[in-house]
Amino acid sequence: MGLHDGRVAIVTGGARGIGSGIARRLVDEGASVVLWDLDFAAFDATSAGFEPAMTQRVDVADAMAVQETFDAAARRFGGIDILINNAGINGPVAHVEDYPLDAWQKVLAIDLGGVFHCCRAAVPHMRARDYGRIVNVSSIAGKEGNPGISAYAAAKAGVIGFTKSLARELAGTGVLANCVAPVITETDLFKEMTAEHVAASKAKIPMNRFLQIPEIAAMVSWAASTECTFTTGFTFDISGGRATY
Ligand SMILES: NC(=O)c1ccc[n+]([C@@H]2O[C@H](COP(=O)([O-])OP(=O)(O)OC[C@H]3O[C@@H](n4cnc5c(N)ncnc54)[C@H](O)[C@@H]3O)[C@@H](O)[C@H]2O)c1
Repeated sequence: MGLHDGRVAIVTGGARGIGSGIARRLVDEGASVVLWDLDFAAFDATSAGFEPAMTQRVDVADAMAVQETFDAAARRFGGIDILINNAGINGPVAHVEDYPLDAWQKVLAIDLGGVFHCCRAAVPHMRARDYGRIVNVSSIAGKEGNPGISAYAAAKAGVIGFTKSLARELAGTGVLANCVAPVITETDLFKEMTAEHVAASKAKIPMNRFLQIPEIAAMVSWAASTECTFTTGFTFDISGGRATY
């Protein structure tokens, strides 16, 4: 018996990185997973280690496309039980006075607007079925703020506030919404970073190592399951002791 037997999940940004790891865990635990992404060129089921039930190309920043894509998935599977809002971009690194206006709009549109659009499409469906688990991927940057990534930090802080509001709107229904706030995770991005940057990032984490994708997948899987019954609007820490709240 798997934790997610018979459940249908949508994982946004699921073609690679953390989203792919979350999808793999959900599939391993019995879920049918619908992967959403802008780009599946690099996705390969063998190396990802799981077979998605369906893939749908969609830009989470496009509210209309999100609604249509959600409705198509719901029709195909009869119901969507789990929504993992993971798609996100970092945007450029620049101080506020130099931050490009178009990049600000884009980061907010994807990292915060995308979460809103996906929840807006899923919530009526989940409410009607009186069941749903929504997990939004925020970041430690949303709690701490970090120089050079103001748009990202603002969007990720927004995701935390948004999730609290949504959870309170849904309290009393069978739909729970929570966040996770990871620190820097060991992904392919590391190959592009300097050794100094990697060392400085690690030094901020009391456990003195980086987060591994299976660790975040395990936490998301639990928050997306029927085992999570009395926690909503919360932000689960996954920072190796770095977060102080
Ligand atoms: N990697 C980290 O260290 C870290 C730390 C904290 C939080 N996060 C968050 O975790 C999430 C996943 O990060 P990752 O490192 O796996 O990133 P990634 O860049 O490896 O993967 C993100 C995926 O989202 C997709 N995507 C981007 N824009 C999209 C859009 N508009 N519509 C649909 N799909 C889109 C990309 O194509 C990609 O497949 C992000 O929200 C990120 O902010 C990452």
